[in-house]
Amino acid sequence: MKIEDVKNVCVVGAGNMGHQIALQCALSGFKTVSTDVIPAVLEKAEKFVDSYLAGRVQKGKLTEEEAKATRARISFTGDLKEAAKDADVVIEAVLERIDLKRKIFADLDKIAPPNAILATNSSFIVSSRIASATNRPAQVCNLHFFNPALVMKLVEVVQGPHVSDETAKCMMDFCLKINKVPIHIKKEVDGFVLNRIFAVIQREALWMLEMGVASVEDIDKACVYGAGHPMGPFRLNDLTGIDLTYDICMSHFYESGNPADLPSPSVVKLYTQGKYGQKTGEGWYSYKK
Ligand SMILES: NC(=O)c1ccc[n+]([C@@H]2O[C@H](COP(=O)([O-])OP(=O)(O)OC[C@H]3O[C@@H](n4cnc5c(N)ncnc54)[C@H](O)[C@@H]3O)[C@@H](O)[C@H]2O)c1
Repeated sequence: MKIEDVKNVCVVGAGNMGHQIALQCALSGFKTVSTDVIPAVLEKAEKFVDSYLAGRVQKGKLTEEEAKATRARISFTGDLKEAAKDADVVIEAVLERIDLKRKIFADLDKIAPPNAILATNSSFIVSSRIASATNRPAQVCNLHFFNPALVMKLVEVVQGPHVSDETAKCMMDFCLKINKVPIHIKKEVDGFVLNRIFAVIQREALWMLEMGVASVEDIDKACVYGAGHPMGPFRLNDLTGIDLTYDICMSHFYESGNPADLPSPSVVKLYTQGKYGQKTGEGWYSYKK
């Protein structure tokens, strides 16, 4: 697949990441279908698109015509077959569970055109662990966006040993077309580049909190006012989702058997209380007002 041949995009999963990735693709001129298994999630995504586009027009960032054309390029369906049947690029953004991702890629392999690229937005699962569920491993790669996907410029394109140069090049070009800044990661490493760096910060922040060294607020202040980060690790964790952190730690533990990989006690406490961060109205901070 070459970038000139990419016209249609399908985004599987319309949650935190998926709905914004889909909108970014539609804003950039690609015909985009967003799909999810939960009808309420799709409804919410559609409402978000409408209000986002109206807001951009109000702020003078888009003309009425541009907003209309973008709206016409994005559609929503609960039917994966319908969503992926004409896709040139599929971006999967479902829950961070390897068995679920492998099942979806096996299905996509049957549904999407044979030359389509199948990419995963997974935060930690390398695509070689998913590619073997398909008959087109050379066209399966990681395409890792950051939250919020409409705002954050970085996208990591990860070229595992099974990924063809053509696929990696097409994904790098695709990112430029959707107005992002791609980086080419030439080896599959857990967490890719930025999340490896963030994992160290997050681990230290949790350790300091649990040792009573400083509060959530003060650790965040240190990163914002001392290191110039736009937000501290706890505020960021509320944005990305404490459930996601929990899932990632658990899957590392299942693989390694190393208790050091288990989620820290304060993460487990929030997770079991259903306090996942912004999406549930409470996490490290409260968002109820
Ligand atoms: N949250 C972040 O900050 C962030 C950042 C970068 C990457 N990611 C990655 O993006 C992926 C999605 O994360 P998220 O935060 O958007 O999760 P989320 O829980 O907000 O959304 C996941 C969506 O997938 C849907 N889904 C589940 N099974 C499905 C299926 N079979 N078909 C279609 N949809 C299905 C769910 O209904 C849900 O709406 C994960 O792999 C995660 O690691 C997340």
